[in-house]
Amino acid sequence: MPYPKDFLFGSATSAHQIEGGNIYSDWYAWEQIPGNIKDGTDSQIACNSWEQYEKDIALLKNTNQNAYRMSIEWAKIEPSRGKYNQHAIEHYKKVFQALQKNNIEVMVTLFHFTLPQWVSRQGGFTNPKTINDFKNFASKMVNTYHQQVDLWVTINEPTVYALKGYLQGDWCPGVKDPHKFVKVWKNLAKAHNIAYSAIKNKQPKAQVGIVLNYASYESSQNNFINKLATLTVRYFSNTLFTKQIINNTDFLGINYYMKFVIQPRLPLIKTGDAARSDFGWPLHPENIYQVVKESQVWGKPIYITENGLADQKDKYRPEFIKETLKWLGKAIDEGAPVKGYFHWSLLDNFEWAEGYSMKFGLHTIDRKPRKSAQVYADLIKKYQPD
Ligand code: FCB
Repeated sequence: MPYPKDFLFGSATSAHQIEGGNIYSDWYAWEQIPGNIKDGTDSQIACNSWEQYEKDIALLKNTNQNAYRMSIEWAKIEPSRGKYNQHAIEHYKKVFQALQKNNIEVMVTLFHFTLPQWVSRQGGFTNPKTINDFKNFASKMVNTYHQQVDLWVTINEPTVYALKGYLQGDWCPGVKDPHKFVKVWKNLAKAHNIAYSAIKNKQPKAQVGIVLNYASYESSQNNFINKLATLTVRYFSNTLFTKQIINNTDFLGINYYMKFVIQPRLPLIKTGDAARSDFGWPLHPENIYQVVKESQVWGKPIYITENGLADQKDKYRPEFIKETLKWLGKAIDEGAPVKGYFHWSLLDNFEWAEGYSMKFGLHTIDRKPRKSAQVYADLIKKYQPD
């Protein structure tokens, strides 16, 4: 059995995408501008998990999961600078208690793409001031929840956030400025490093990490030029950010979604032949093996913090999960220090600029299980028999 007894099998969500009512966030404001969200929806209701979190926990329980990756919403907790909303603070306490009661280990992300509007008004992470504001928020959260949370994530997918929000401009705040992109990218690395120390100071035993989006890259041809091109692309997309934070992290959280093929001509980057999700992303579950192998070189414990596909009809998901866990198991068998796997997502939710059109859930938005929920539950039992 490749999976150790204490391996975490869970799923992942983020506050903005499931809770609803995140009206003091920059994303909520951005969603109100016509054209920004492809299906014209917003996050006002989302999955209503703010009210229904106990139902979400029941979904985890019913499918044998022993872990949950979620985020807490800065905009709800600190809707204006230095003014903390006690109700929101108590809310998350209740969520953590309910998870604890059900023996579900929680991994908590502090920044998953959304900012309070007062932070976005000062320029978000383009402004170095925000680094300190984020550190203060992190400190406050650890002071508040250190008895309930042992696994912290500072920032979710910094490179993706900088790229889509500040270079491509198809995510909030919709900026297309290479200079700002670089600034945000650098400031996020600093924010992680500073928040890491702040958290460890207060809670030395906590495991504190960051979540990075690692794609898998393969060369189309087996020659020097092609391999060099592949190494270069991988360096800029996976390695370079990792180097900025690697001395200040207890683990690496890896989100694996995509495999790209690199060729020595234009277009340099393409996707290979494979079945595709509703999003058009090619499905290569077996490449989780390669991504984990490459990540081992950093010498840190690894969590797969997200992995999944948009598949409304659940046509590919059951097989996808099976294959993923098979290949992840092989890497672990060969010594990879992987501590957990979180499927994205527990239930369909607000998928950023796509609105509700992309359905990543093991369950639908009204919390009905898809077939793959049972498949995942059975695999967990198989890999972790009592
Ligand atoms: C990741 C995000 C997550 C979700 C999935 C599909 O990049 O972290 O919030 O949108 O993609």
